[in-house]
Amino acid sequence: MNFLYDTHAHLDDSMFDKDRDAVIHKIQNSNVGLLNNIAADMESSRFSIKLAEEYDFIYATVGVHPSDVLSMTNHDIDELRKLSKHPKVVAIGEIGLDYHYDDADPDLQKYWFREQLDLARDLNMPVVIHDRDSKGECLSILKEKNISRGVVHCFSGSAETAKEILKMGMHISFTGVVTFKNARRAIEALKVIPIERLLIETDSPYMAPEPFRGQRNDSSFVYRVAEKISEVKEIPLEDVIRITCENGMKLFGISK
Ligand code: NI
Repeated sequence: MNFLYDTHAHLDDSMFDKDRDAVIHKIQNSNVGLLNNIAADMESSRFSIKLAEEYDFIYATVGVHPSDVLSMTNHDIDELRKLSKHPKVVAIGEIGLDYHYDDADPDLQKYWFREQLDLARDLNMPVVIHDRDSKGECLSILKEKNISRGVVHCFSGSAETAKEILKMGMHISFTGVVTFKNARRAIEALKVIPIERLLIETDSPYMAPEPFRGQRNDSSFVYRVAEKISEVKEIPLEDVIRITCENGMKLFGISK
């Protein structure tokens, strides 16, 4: 067994509306053997499950992204609980805090972040965390809630922050951003993270790695993240592919 596991993709995104099946076939013909389709709102939670039912190698998460919590209700929490019982739902996410845009009130974000963390703990499921510009508040809430099973995705923080996340027991995931010329801070962080705690992802359709930067991204490009990890950590590429895949299977409870 040696294939890539793209642990974070958004195949439900409207950028794939015209050719979704063709893109999925392209991904299947690359060396990608597992893929998590990550939900960002209620609609994409349902869509992720639909994709997971249709394609053997696709798994789903359910959850509401911090930028989409404005209209969230308790009824949504009940529905997420129901959706999470589907055999191919492997995590609650992506959830967290995003203070980059001021379109969602921080207090509201924190409220629904805590509610969804409680849900994950109730269900004994790992979490997929989105943390953008939260100035440490996201990690504080994870600590407050005693969360130790999950992944901080699209990591671009410092080596110090990485160590804090590792201490909590969490995994850290990198996108194609590590292949960018200005990724010095992320590279420094990558150096201190043991390979056993690393995951790889595309966050497609966004974040296309070099030399595809600016194009629509898809999971067939995830090998570029593995190549960069191999280069920085001086670990053979086949080992990076195998170990990050095993890490993901273990965290998300997938046996294949
Ligand atoms: Ni995402």
